[in-house]
Amino acid sequence: MIMAAHNGLPMTETRSDIRCIGIATGGGDAPGLNAVIRAATKSAILEHQWKVIGIPDGFDGLIWPEKSFELTLDRVSGILPRGGTILGTTNRGDPFHYKSEENGQPVVRDISDQVIGNAKQLGIDAIISIGGDGSQKIAYDLFRKGMKMVGVPKTIDNDLSATELTFGFDTALHTVSDAIDKIHTTAASHHRVMVVEVMGRDCGWIALAGGIAGGAHVILIPEIPFTIKGVCDFIAQRERGGRDFTIVVVAEGVKQPPEFKENRRGGSVGILIGNAIAAGSKKEVRISVLGHIQRGGSPSPFDRVLATRFGVAAVDLIAKGEFGKMVALRASSIVGVDMADAIGKLKVVRPNGELVRTARAIGIGFGD
Ligand code: F6P
Repeated sequence: MIMAAHNGLPMTETRSDIRCIGIATGGGDAPGLNAVIRAATKSAILEHQWKVIGIPDGFDGLIWPEKSFELTLDRVSGILPRGGTILGTTNRGDPFHYKSEENGQPVVRDISDQVIGNAKQLGIDAIISIGGDGSQKIAYDLFRKGMKMVGVPKTIDNDLSATELTFGFDTALHTVSDAIDKIHTTAASHHRVMVVEVMGRDCGWIALAGGIAGGAHVILIPEIPFTIKGVCDFIAQRERGGRDFTIVVVAEGVKQPPEFKENRRGGSVGILIGNAIAAGSKKEVRISVLGHIQRGGSPSPFDRVLATRFGVAAVDLIAKGEFGKMVALRASSIVGVDMADAIGKLKVVRPNGELVRTARAIGIGFGD
């Protein structure tokens, strides 16, 4: 049934007992977070006439409920193309292991009851938690304590096994392939080896897909063990074939090659590998660490659409009373999956999978 128009937009009748929802963004940011916030807010207001409350800085916002604010149609207007999150985020806040200081001593306390109590005090009936695996685990634990939670997966790394894609990944690929395109011309002009370190804490999806999209020659990922010798041999072979420059994409999460006798963790793995390649290949090497520019910027059209679908689907789950679920993309459709089944499962690159095979078929080396 169509009800009175709101801001010139039609509103449909609601049947759920929900009156007010909260939205929180947790973990590292990703392009598309604002698109989810906007879509969920608009759908909640236009389709259900719910009040929407923005919870700042992940679940930390429920420790200080006075910092929360209402998300209105006006408040979310214009945020679709904006990177980051208007709600703020943190990848440290965990109400089950809240770190503070008492009498000058660091203490860790479980303040989840307080957080749930504050949500109730704000009138929040259900919460949409937009975040990566860590945030979804907290959301699931809050759900088990009685809070009505639904999840929206997020990570530029695209490494959650429950969903075929996460928003932010496509935008990150644009950034990576654009950077490699630019590095290509200078690499060719100077006859150099150019090492490009990209994000991907546990999995090599950004390196693999970004490297293919950018025309990289070598791609080093956590899932495929490599050696510096393997990379140098590949560079030498290219030289013999008349190719006097090479672009090596390194995922930040690669395992250390066996040539590194001691543990060299701590700094940029791209710099370590680049220096080792310089020593092994006797070529001039330059290193670029793309870092957090991969997490910034305006979301790509694909990510805007995926984020919007996720936001609306999360509201749909609440309206249907399907709590403890997370939205996910499966076989091109948005579905709800149990948080319990979704958390803690990494989607790794399969070394013998189709994408690696495609890369190998066009001559890309993996240093193995
Ligand atoms: O998980 C997403 C991610 O961007 C990883 O690729 C990267 O290792 C990590 O976040 C960086 O987090 P931070 O913002 O804390 O440096």
